[in-house]
Amino acid sequence: MADLWQHAMDHAVAAARRAGEVVREALLDDRKVTTKSSSVDLVTQTDQKVEQLIIQSVKEKFPTHRFIGEESVAAGEPCVLTDSPTWIIDPIDGTTNFVHAFPFVAVSIGFSVDKQVEFGVVYSCLEDKMFTARRGKGSFCNGEPLQVSDQEDIKQSIIATEFGSNRDPEAVDKIFSSLRNILCIPVHGVRGAGSAAINMCLVASGCVEAYYEIGIHVWDVAAGSLIVSEAGGVLMDVEGVAVDLMSRRIVAANRRTIAERIVKEIDSFSPPRDDAPSPLKQ
Ligand code: IPD
Repeated sequence: MADLWQHAMDHAVAAARRAGEVVREALLDDRKVTTKSSSVDLVTQTDQKVEQLIIQSVKEKFPTHRFIGEESVAAGEPCVLTDSPTWIIDPIDGTTNFVHAFPFVAVSIGFSVDKQVEFGVVYSCLEDKMFTARRGKGSFCNGEPLQVSDQEDIKQSIIATEFGSNRDPEAVDKIFSSLRNILCIPVHGVRGAGSAAINMCLVASGCVEAYYEIGIHVWDVAAGSLIVSEAGGVLMDVEGVAVDLMSRRIVAANRRTIAERIVKEIDSFSPPRDDAPSPLKQ
């Protein structure tokens, strides 16, 4: 049977590659920063320009499809996942990295139908790595198949996480308490690329055993979630239940036992959901 969404996926790969060119050029001379929900929640004209480029190109080809885009939501568009074909776009995942020229920046495009991610595309533009996954068909980086790490022992693992942009002292305490618990398992190390999408691609590539974070958004992880699961990994919520992409909490790991061990150590909390009514969320 013909793959219904292959055409859309091909379009997403081409759009991500074009977006990556714009990001690379802007990195050299155009990084004017403004802020969104707080002084550390950054946005640049490039984020907005790239999101519009992707949305316009998709609208021309697929006029009935819907969108959830980071910058459109920041501008007041609804963030609601329906059963309709929906493009979930983060034009620059790693905006803080981009602003500081820290070299991990990704364009992330997930595509969901019936609330299920059908394909994911993450283009790590400065590394020129195109990560792709199609549901049921595996994950790839620049066309080469990906496989999560086969490590069974968390004590021999590297775990990725981020501090995010929430500076509420209670949330920061919980983030540090989880980090302390995980470091003291002990694990080999803790890392963070500064981009949720790239962290998830690192899990899919087998470079780190797991990634967890509280505070991410659906556009940061929609594409990466499929890239992890199609590379043989598992996803769950930070309390061990099924992952909910709108809940802003995620654990992605090479295997269930490692994900469950991380869950045991996380001091969890619940930021406002992405589909909650308020347009600006930390
Ligand atoms: C952020 C990055 C960062 C993560 C934040 C995200 P943005 O996305 O993925 O690594 O810690 O939670 O919001 O704002 O650069 O698209």
